[in-house]
Amino acid sequence: MRIVVIGTGYVGLVSGVCFSDFGHDVVCVDKDARKIDMLNSGKVPIFEPGLDQLMMRNVEAGRLRFTLDLNEAMEGAEAVFIAVGTPTRRGDGHADLTYVMAAAQEVAKAAKDYIVVVTKSTVPVGTNRKVREVMTETAPELDFDVASNPEFLREGAAIDDFMKPDRVVVGIETERAAKVMADIYRPLYLREFPIVVTDLESAEMIKYAANAFLATKITFINEIAALCEKVGADVKQVSKGMGLDNRIGKKFLHAGPGYGGSCFPKDTKALARIGQENASPMMITEAVIAINEQVKRRMVDKLLELCDGSFNGKTIAIMGVTFKPNTDDMRDAPSLTVVPALLGGGAKVRVVDPQGRHEGEHLLPGVEWLDDPYAATEHSDLIVIMTEWNEFRALDLTRIAGGMKTARMADLRNVYSAEDARNAGFEAYSSIGRPDMAR
Ligand SMILES: NC(=O)c1ccc[n+]([C@@H]2O[C@H](COP(=O)([O-])OP(=O)(O)OC[C@H]3O[C@@H](n4cnc5c(N)ncnc54)[C@H](O)[C@@H]3O)[C@@H](O)[C@H]2O)c1
Repeated sequence: MRIVVIGTGYVGLVSGVCFSDFGHDVVCVDKDARKIDMLNSGKVPIFEPGLDQLMMRNVEAGRLRFTLDLNEAMEGAEAVFIAVGTPTRRGDGHADLTYVMAAAQEVAKAAKDYIVVVTKSTVPVGTNRKVREVMTETAPELDFDVASNPEFLREGAAIDDFMKPDRVVVGIETERAAKVMADIYRPLYLREFPIVVTDLESAEMIKYAANAFLATKITFINEIAALCEKVGADVKQVSKGMGLDNRIGKKFLHAGPGYGGSCFPKDTKALARIGQENASPMMITEAVIAINEQVKRRMVDKLLELCDGSFNGKTIAIMGVTFKPNTDDMRDAPSLTVVPALLGGGAKVRVVDPQGRHEGEHLLPGVEWLDDPYAATEHSDLIVIMTEWNEFRALDLTRIAGGMKTARMADLRNVYSAEDARNAGFEAYSSIGRPDMAR
């Protein structure tokens, strides 16, 4: 198959690389010349484990290339995947479809023969029909079909998720498009991964419903965690006891500083907006959005308590600012709520993050970036475990406590325990949904 992928972000680049690894002939297109230059010189613009090797293997095999020129890329293509961003539209929470519609128009202008236009971006119900309208208006003579193929990969495990998906969802309307999609995903059909074929609207809805459900699960356990703190229960034990029930499952039951990232915040908002527009309010999702904001603010209160009620003049070392480990993505990370509150309160903030600096530098002005957790905590008043990178899971806590001005820890990912902290010489330790170490 000859495939074009528009957008070389977290989804487009991973999809393009993996399709080429399936054996297809893939051209990835982006408007960002810096990204295309980097890709053409063998560098991956994002941090995603394993992506650089897989990309180079397929470039060298002649199955994968990168260009700014959509017209040239479309030559002989049988399918084009739109994998551009759909950020939250300013003001109303709706998904901003500007990039998707612009890409659809460009495809309509560039295509000459029959093509399947596949939307991989996360888009509100009805968008694929709008894509078809826009294409028909732009190129009334063009023979094409639209297809919806939402993506479920997780940053940090994207290649595995793409190659070994729980399922592939394909929304289509014609046999002809079904055949093209089946050919593209043949390697996954052959290995018997479930392929769910639906109408366009159901495919679009599956993606939002899945993300809103996962955000709800995280928010539920975060709310339970707050209650655990009040009644003296341990949320880690509660999660374990709940998660072993197969009907519930243990994933997405880890209490923390609130969900963030490029998907859950914007997709929950977009689903709430779709509900409002259709007079069918998504009340659970709306509550989840509001509670998640409270969870992030609760983190600031927690840190304030550990700083005896004032951040002013305190030195605080933050371990991890990306929204989760194994990514450099900072979009809607809880750190973007917490760190400015510390700076605003007069604290000096030092940050260590294995991959977050490049993205984080312009988002968190005023912090000092260091590479070493021990140097960052030296003479500090508080260490905060914000993101559970492996690098922060086995710190020498005795060494850290020994170097701090006041040995206090906020463990917002429940990586350590009050006992670990006490044994290492910490005078205060606070985590999520578990009893604090008594001071
Ligand atoms: N990031 C994730 O983990 C993830 C997972 C599943 C689904 N999604 C969805 O996938 C979509 C893409 O997300 P992302 O994180 O990869 O976005 P991203 O912002 O990382 O990348 C989008 C890319 O598209 C390019 N682009 C925009 N308009 C273009 C055009 N007309 N022509 C060529 N290039 C263009 C941009 O320059 C950018 O490089 C979103 O709808 C998102 O919700 C993301």
